[in-house]
Amino acid sequence: MMKTLITYSTSHGCTEKTAVELKEFLGGEVHLVSLKNNPNPALDEYDRIIIGGSIHAGQIQKRIKEFCSGNLEELKTKELGLFICCMEEGENAQKQLMNAFPEELHEVAKSTAVFGGEFDFEKMNFLEKLMVKRIAKVRESRSKVDHQAIHTFSKRMDKIFNPFLFLV
Ligand SMILES: Cc1cc2nc3c(=O)[nH]c(=O)nc-3n(C[C@H](O)[C@H](O)[C@H](O)COP(=O)(O)O)c2cc1C
Repeated sequence: MMKTLITYSTSHGCTEKTAVELKEFLGGEVHLVSLKNNPNPALDEYDRIIIGGSIHAGQIQKRIKEFCSGNLEELKTKELGLFICCMEEGENAQKQLMNAFPEELHEVAKSTAVFGGEFDFEKMNFLEKLMVKRIAKVRESRSKVDHQAIHTFSKRMDKIFNPFLFLV
């Protein structure tokens, strides 16, 4: 049976929620691992690896960057998926997605996506609140998780690429 690892980093819990939602959509055996709890999950057990993190001040978590660069060659041999949570939309969100993962991984990934995000004022510290108020001009919690994007991502991961299909 296809074994999948979803490994993620989350600052305020949104990426974790989207990872749980994604797990429900995927077929086969799926393990969820937070890089905070386990920065070095055993990758050889898995056929598929999905990596997700969130964007703060333009950057994905350092843990994700280190995980990707430290395991680059092995990750390239897997069925790979990459996603981010963020509050920007459109072209800005796409730029953040491109910038979040090494180009070599984007080139081989089966699916990449932006899952939207949320501003949760209950979980922000003083400086974070200040940043969000000043820069995003948002004063209250809001959520715009893109459930459709999570579903589409899962369908693309489950698709089988059969070369014979090109012949018919
Ligand atoms: C201090 C702070 C800075 C942020 N900076 C950005 C940013 O540069 N670009 C963006 O698209 N979203 C930004 N966001 C929105 C987060 O990406 C969003 O809250 C996301 O859902 C967080 O996911 P997490 O709870 O898994 O960490 C920022 C949020 C906070 C609190």
